[in-house]
Amino acid sequence: MLNIAVLVSGGGTNLQALIDAQKSGMLKNGAISCVISGRGDAYALERAKQNGIPTRVVSRKDYKSAEEFDHALLCALQEASADLVVLAGFLSILGSEVTCAYKNRIINIHPSLIPSFCGAGFYGLRVHEAALKYGVKVTGATVHFVSDVVDGGAIILQKVVEVRDDDTPEVLQRRVMEQAEWVILPYAVSLFCEGKLSMENGRVRVLP
Ligand code: GRF
Repeated sequence: MLNIAVLVSGGGTNLQALIDAQKSGMLKNGAISCVISGRGDAYALERAKQNGIPTRVVSRKDYKSAEEFDHALLCALQEASADLVVLAGFLSILGSEVTCAYKNRIINIHPSLIPSFCGAGFYGLRVHEAALKYGVKVTGATVHFVSDVVDGGAIILQKVVEVRDDDTPEVLQRRVMEQAEWVILPYAVSLFCEGKLSMENGRVRVLP
């Protein structure tokens, strides 16, 4: 069984999708052992507590430098004996101490089809605002491994979602979550836990 640490900062609907996947037996070789929040008031912490999952808060504002924060995060992950780290709406950028220690073992969900509408500054509603402004007819979500480049790691799974003429950023965000994020994040985590993700020449291949 792999220990999965889920890092959150907000409402935690992706965390909930992972909890539901675990309850349904979809996560065959893994279990969520810890939820670490970047904010003390994140509702995601409540979801974890309701499901008996240990929680911690590691907040960037409590550390003098990005390096100290990164080190504290690594200590928290090691104390939780984390084998896999899932960023489910975690708003702080990870530093190289964590990304090196967990190379190809950190998974992120991003609410667009990377390489569109991603990178520094593209988070939350801003991603969907940018997609609507550009006028794309489809958008979606991407699950990828985390590297030192923001949203630049190897892509694991993507799912396309239709954009409608009358969409607002909020409506589009909800559709992307329902149709893509809550589907492909638990699936990618289950594939990882079953050892079905193989890295070849910097690209991910899903093994049968
Ligand atoms: C999601 O849109 C996710 O793609 C992004 O942050 C949001 C988190 O939402 N990285 P939630 O906290 O899981 O509800």
